[in-house]
Amino acid sequence: MIDFNKYPELGVSELQEAMNFAVMQVRNNLPDFTYELQADTSEGQFYPNVENVEWTNGFWPGEVWLAYERTGDPIFMYAGLIMVQSFLERIENKVEVDHHDMGFLYTPSCVAAYQLTGDEDARTAALLAADQLITRWKDKGQFLQAWGPNNSPDHHRLIIDCLLNLGLLYWAAEETGDEYYSEIAHQHIDTTLRYAIREDGSAYHTFFFDPQTGEPVKGVTHQGYKDDSSWARGQAWAVYGIAISYRYTANEEYKETFKKVLNYYLDKLPANLVPYWDLDFSEGSGEPWDSSASAIVICGLLEMADVSEEEESREYWQIASKLAKALIDTCAVKDAETSNGLLLHGVYAKHSPYNGIKADNGVDECVSWGDYFYLEALTRLSGNWSPYW
Ligand code: GLY
Repeated sequence: MIDFNKYPELGVSELQEAMNFAVMQVRNNLPDFTYELQADTSEGQFYPNVENVEWTNGFWPGEVWLAYERTGDPIFMYAGLIMVQSFLERIENKVEVDHHDMGFLYTPSCVAAYQLTGDEDARTAALLAADQLITRWKDKGQFLQAWGPNNSPDHHRLIIDCLLNLGLLYWAAEETGDEYYSEIAHQHIDTTLRYAIREDGSAYHTFFFDPQTGEPVKGVTHQGYKDDSSWARGQAWAVYGIAISYRYTANEEYKETFKKVLNYYLDKLPANLVPYWDLDFSEGSGEPWDSSASAIVICGLLEMADVSEEEESREYWQIASKLAKALIDTCAVKDAETSNGLLLHGVYAKHSPYNGIKADNGVDECVSWGDYFYLEALTRLSGNWSPYW
């Protein structure tokens, strides 16, 4: 177990410097990524642009909204609102939305836009996305189906990542007064915690149910090293996802599970505090890190710090600050000539003999969610912030 006492917290000037650089990168990226969006992964540390068809497209506009909050500069607002139109069109025309990632797509792009500007198109788009998400609800098993054609018996499974999609449902329930959205969110997280979190606090990436009976079948990895390991980003989605549901529900069982899941993650960290892409790997393995998992966990810690009592809150805050310092020192982009992203050393998907990934994709690159959650972490560390999730 890491002795956190040995690690320094992030200093005020280091935080400011990191934030100012990150916002400058976002500003410099606006000409390339306003009418087209940023790809999921950089290529040689530079993101190409893509159409709005991927599950990852919400992260870039999320960065733009965070930069708007930081600076108040209307250029970010104008760009963010242009992107809202693209998201509205996407959901109205149901372009590549036959999956569960409506929260990843519509929370940082449109819930954020509505929260910050009151834009009605952003609200409409986000509510349509929540409606789309609940079409994935499965009575047999009580969960939201992740991937594949809706109701396909071969795809009768949940994945741990979906905990981040639930914020959209809690938001939709508050916005419309219709509790059906939040009931689905509650039931989905209950099923996820019951089956996808193991006794020791580690997480399965995905979990299958019998499509006829709804009985639990088995945990299987897709992006982790093997079925019974813990994919670092999956563990991170669990940490942050549980914290989000705790904020909306104050369910103490969620808090208890949060502690187990967090401790498992912290226990597996190498000395530089940035996890290898699967938590089965340790120092000397030569495997790449996944910096995005660290950014996500920092946000989860700060989220839980916000809704916890003093001593516990301080403890979560301190760990987050130490992880953030380590992340900035080892992974933050510090020179615009070397990358147009924010955070180096992410992994999208790495092949192993035991997982569902046929070929490496985005290994040791910037990944768009890594950049977004890194900027969200810096924003949270800088002071009060009203979460988009
Ligand atoms: N949600 C998919 C991923 O984290 O790669």
